[in-house]
Amino acid sequence: MSIFSKVVTLDGEAASGKSSVGTRLSQQLGYSFFDSGSIYRSLSWYLLDRQVEIKPRDVFLALQGFQPSVSSEGAVTVNGTAVNGYLQSNAVNQLTPIIASGFFVRKRIREIQRQFCVDWEGKAVVTGRDVGRDVFPESTMKFYLHATSEVRAMRRYLQKIENGELASYEEILADIRGRD
Ligand code: DC
Repeated sequence: MSIFSKVVTLDGEAASGKSSVGTRLSQQLGYSFFDSGSIYRSLSWYLLDRQVEIKPRDVFLALQGFQPSVSSEGAVTVNGTAVNGYLQSNAVNQLTPIIASGFFVRKRIREIQRQFCVDWEGKAVVTGRDVGRDVFPESTMKFYLHATSEVRAMRRYLQKIENGELASYEEILADIRGRD
């Protein structure tokens, strides 16, 4: 049986609680945890930090030097630097969907994510878009989290308030409904 059959994948709508549920589930199971989006985000941080031009060839070359690692709690280190504190910046938010659409980026990050789970002998909970379908198709435990737009907007709103940011519940709700 494939080592990846043990991996638990958790996909779901934005702000549906993937990280909260994934973290708790991994603790219950004694599994490691990481969010696949954080690896895409850490590549953005790496490209910004090294002032790489966002052109296919430059990104492809930079990818060769990109060496992320992740702790069993999902904390990401890139070439020796702990990056979690930088992954929600506006610059990273803007760049990530652009680089995440690149074929070579997706292929390389998929390999990296699978290698993390090889190192953990498959004992991992992984959250994020298409992890069940594309990254770990062999997983036998794939979950998808649903929550109403009101609940998701409230989660986002409280997260922002906790981070000391200004936030409007109505604006967040309108944004979430727009994306749905
Ligand atoms: O879930 P998130 O917002 O942190 O994801 C950040 C970006 O990474 C998002 O633009 C889509 C991309 N991503 C992806 O393409 N595949 C994944 N498995 C996870 C994230």
